[in-house]
Amino acid sequence: MPLQFEHGVLPKPTADEEARQEFVFSMAQHSMTQIMPGIVSVYEKQVLPEFKENEKREPATRHEIRRSMQRHPYYQLASSFQRSTQELLWDSVDESVQRQLSDLITKAEQLSGGETLGNLTLDPEFEMPRYIRDNDHHVMPGGYAADLRTGDITAGALYDRGAYIFTDGLFGEKMDGVGKSAAQFIRKYYPDIAPQKIIDFGSGMGGPTCALKEAFPEAEVCGIDVSAAELRYSHARAESLGVAVHFSQQNAERTNFEDGSVDVVVSVTTFHETSRAAVENIIRDAYRILKSGGALVVGEQPPFEGKSPFEQFLADWDTLNNNEPFWSTIHEMDMVAICSKAGFKPEGVFTSMEQSVASTNAVEANADPDDIVGSDRGGGDFWYFSARK
Ligand SMILES: C[S@@+](CC[C@H](N)C(=O)[O-])C[C@H]1O[C@@H](n2cnc3c(N)ncnc32)[C@H](O)[C@@H]1O
Repeated sequence: MPLQFEHGVLPKPTADEEARQEFVFSMAQHSMTQIMPGIVSVYEKQVLPEFKENEKREPATRHEIRRSMQRHPYYQLASSFQRSTQELLWDSVDESVQRQLSDLITKAEQLSGGETLGNLTLDPEFEMPRYIRDNDHHVMPGGYAADLRTGDITAGALYDRGAYIFTDGLFGEKMDGVGKSAAQFIRKYYPDIAPQKIIDFGSGMGGPTCALKEAFPEAEVCGIDVSAAELRYSHARAESLGVAVHFSQQNAERTNFEDGSVDVVVSVTTFHETSRAAVENIIRDAYRILKSGGALVVGEQPPFEGKSPFEQFLADWDTLNNNEPFWSTIHEMDMVAICSKAGFKPEGVFTSMEQSVASTNAVEANADPDDIVGSDRGGGDFWYFSARK
């Protein structure tokens, strides 16, 4: 695995911790390229013929396929192995983060104290949305909501290091690939916008937000997130990298930015961790805060539309097995219709497949995305929907 860039709050593994992290990554890769693909032949050779024999027809939906597959021992074994590697991955990162947590908190406080390039604003009265409060997405211990001790930065540190390992560094050494990809998208489709203000909805550990500021240095760039632990981390991280970004704790469903004050609202890999009502609210708020002529740019999972029921079933693994309860539903939502309902002109709304996040960072995937069953981890194409006010 290539080395991750050592910014001021990156949790640094000991040699033993690193060996465990590398081992778990190898397990995950083995699972996705060697074990999970076996469920394709189980389906074709056993489950599908049995289904046709019993029902006298092809399965009509991914749900029917899932119900049949869940009874097969190979699917149970493969899913259990995949889920276990995911849990072990987080264990291998969490033990390293917890060992150095006091030091990391001190470093974060130093970086965020005194005179800083960007601001950090937390809201002690913040009401966590239920879809974040009640779920540990992708099995990350404590999810985004955990804020267990004064100055906690655990969620940010876990995501930064854990996602780097899971993606085998495909998001780039600074974990900024999705931000670079979004910046590339803005330049390609909105060359006439010279953004003065960009908001990143769901800024997470802040790597993509920093990439936006670096791509548009003249713009004021703000990252908002619901997670205090991630915001403390992302602010300290950006300061240590010398990037001026303002971070604040806000729900993207109803932000405090003024009407018509923003040139571009960006959101990457965030919508699928919310809810149906939240997606509508977030798009409505984006419309409210955008200037006339401003653009909403959302990078997400590609929809299931156009995939066969079996391909949908494969892509839907995370819904039931990886604590991603909204995954299934969001893949079926019509974002163009939702944007139009929020006020965007239908002719200004479009979807597009773009370069993979890895290629945005000129990083080579060491497994062909076609060989992977499950998430392609940034090696495959990246799907966007966008709307202009
Ligand atoms: C998968 S992470 C992606 C983070 C970042 N965009 C990236 O690509 O690295 C999703 C983030 O969205 C945040 N989030 C979820 N719902 C939100 C909401 N309603 N408002 C603001 N942030 C939200 C989560 O706390 C989490 O940090």
